[in-house]
Parts: sequence; structure tokens; C-alpha cells
Amino acid sequence: MLDRLEELRQRATAELETCDSTAALTAWNSKYLGRQDGELTAVLRGLRDVPADQRKAIGQRANEIKAELEALLAARRAALESAEMERALQAERLDVTLPGRNEPKGGLHPISQTIRDICRVFSEMGFHIIEGPEVETDYYNFQALNIPADHPARDMQDTFWVVPGQILLRTQTSPNQIRIMQEQRPPVRAVVPGKVYRNEATDATHEAMFHQIEGLLIDKTTTMRDLRGCLERFAHVIFGPTTQVRFRPSYFPFTEPSAEVDVTCIVCRGTGCRVCKYSGWVEVLGSGMVHPQVLRNVNYDPSVYRGFAFGMGVERIAMMRYGINEIRLFSQNDLRFLNQF
Ligand code: DAH
Repeated sequence: MLDRLEELRQRATAELETCDSTAALTAWNSKYLGRQDGELTAVLRGLRDVPADQRKAIGQRANEIKAELEALLAARRAALESAEMERALQAERLDVTLPGRNEPKGGLHPISQTIRDICRVFSEMGFHIIEGPEVETDYYNFQALNIPADHPARDMQDTFWVVPGQILLRTQTSPNQIRIMQEQRPPVRAVVPGKVYRNEATDATHEAMFHQIEGLLIDKTTTMRDLRGCLERFAHVIFGPTTQVRFRPSYFPFTEPSAEVDVTCIVCRGTGCRVCKYSGWVEVLGSGMVHPQVLRNVNYDPSVYRGFAFGMGVERIAMMRYGINEIRLFSQNDLRFLNQF
């Protein structure tokens, strides 16, 4: 009987070694230690038929083996579980040192950036930032600005008409001079950024839609020196502190006197290059002292109030700043272009 027990112990031990899953362990357990028909359980249950003189020795040995097998089973189970855990860890391994994936970020369009930068300069000098309608009347866009119906200045601005002769897409931001002055009494200080439209052929420097920034300052003692001071400040911030400003006499129906304003070429710094056509200067805006008739049109008394106005093209300035030679890039929405800003 003791021999049978030894044989059982060895067989069970050897078989346990070959169990390589928890399912196999469960089967092994019921085969040897199962309450119903485990082999060792059967031995223990049969003890009552064993002659009394052997019963104690056999019972003791059987219990020892039972304890040993149970311990081996627990150890085997623990080993299998940690092996399974190890496999799962390997399979699901995370490399926490991998760099993260960037979320693509949006950014401001270079025209928006330029508008903001320019408006900030004037805002710091006390100018309000105001916007006005893109669909205008003939009155605001032309007549109130001293541009009568048959005035040759209208030829310079081929117009997109909504209602011919009456309603149009504004060709300039200047109508906002009138709108602002109708709404408030002097002193007035405002800049107006926005889109303008011209019905003309497109090329590398012209588009049918572009942006302007209008400036207006009205007070009692304003002179062209104030205009010059404001524009110099603007030029220094936008084009660099060594930039010089030059006034050239010009003509606009709504200013008198009028001036076209040049700055030293930011490509060659004034020594002459292709961008400035070897003059050292590039034109950036139109300006002048607000015409007395324009003041009268908004019921400002020209013998009391005076002021200056200016208007600049944003694309042109952005092209100079960033060294861009093709205006149409701004409206093509090509990310290869836009991502550079
Ligand atoms: N509105 C003019 C244009 O589109 C630019 C301009 C010139 C605006 C002189 C002004 C100014 O306010 O005083 O060409």
C-alpha cells in the first residue's frame, strides 16, 4: 500500500510539471485531489478497510503526500500566473520614451497678423480701431469724399456695382472717415482695417479683393507734422527703427494738401535694388490734410477743426515685410505658404 502511495506521488508530481495552463492545473487537481474521485482522496477514503496495524502509517503518509501535492500545486499555479503576466506585459509593452504626436495648431493669416501689428501701433497712440460695411453707397464711397459723379478719380477705381450708380462694394476704406465723423464730434482718432474690392485684372501685385487700413485724426490744432510723427512711429515699428519716411506731393480729392508716403526700401535699406527700382524708396500709403469740403459734408466747421487722413494697402506692406513677390498667394489658402508665418 505504501508502494502504491509512492508511485502515485511520483506520477502526480511528474504530471504536474507538464501542466502549462490553469485549465490543465484544474484537471490535474480533480484527477488527484478531487473530492469526488481524486486518486489520493480514494486512498484516504479507503483507510477504514486497511488493517488496523497499518492504518496509522499509511494514513500519515497519505496526508503528508496530500499536503505536499497541494503545496506543489499552489507553487505551480503561482509560477504559471506570473509567466502569463510576464507574457501580457511583453505583448502590451508601452514605450513611454516615444515622443508624443503633435496636434496641428492653427495660426493667424499673415494679412491678419499685419493688420493686428499695424493697428496696435496706432492704438498705442490713442487711435480707436473701428470697422465699417463692405457694401457701401455711392455717397459714402465717392460723393461725401469730394469725388463727384464725373470726377476722373473714379476712373482709378473700377467698381463692383451692386446697384449701378447707387450701391457698390467699397473700393477703399475711406468712406469710414465720413461714417466716423457723422457719429462723433471731434476730437476723433480712429483706424479702420478691412477688405476693399476693385474690378480689375489680377496679376502678381493686383487682386480684385485686398485689405486697407484707413486712419483719421481730427482736432483743432492738427498739422502735417502730427501726420508725419504718427507715420514715422508706424514705419519704425513695422519696418524697423532706422526706417526713414519721405513725403511726395500728390493728389487725392478728399485731402489738401495730399502726399504719397515712401519709406526706405527694407530690402536694400536705401542703397537701391530691384524691389525699389533702384530709388532706395518704396511707396506705402496715401495721406493728406482732410479737405475742408469733406469736413463741411459732415457738419464739422473747417475754420475750427482740421485733421489728417491716410490709407494704406495691407498686402503691399505684408509683401515688403515678408519678402513676398506674389499677392495671389495670400488668397490661395495653400498651407505650404501659410505654414511659414
Ligand atoms: N483711399 C485711397 C486709395 O484707396 C488711399 C488714401 C489716400 C486714403 C489718401 C486716405 C488719404 O485717407 O488721405 O487709394
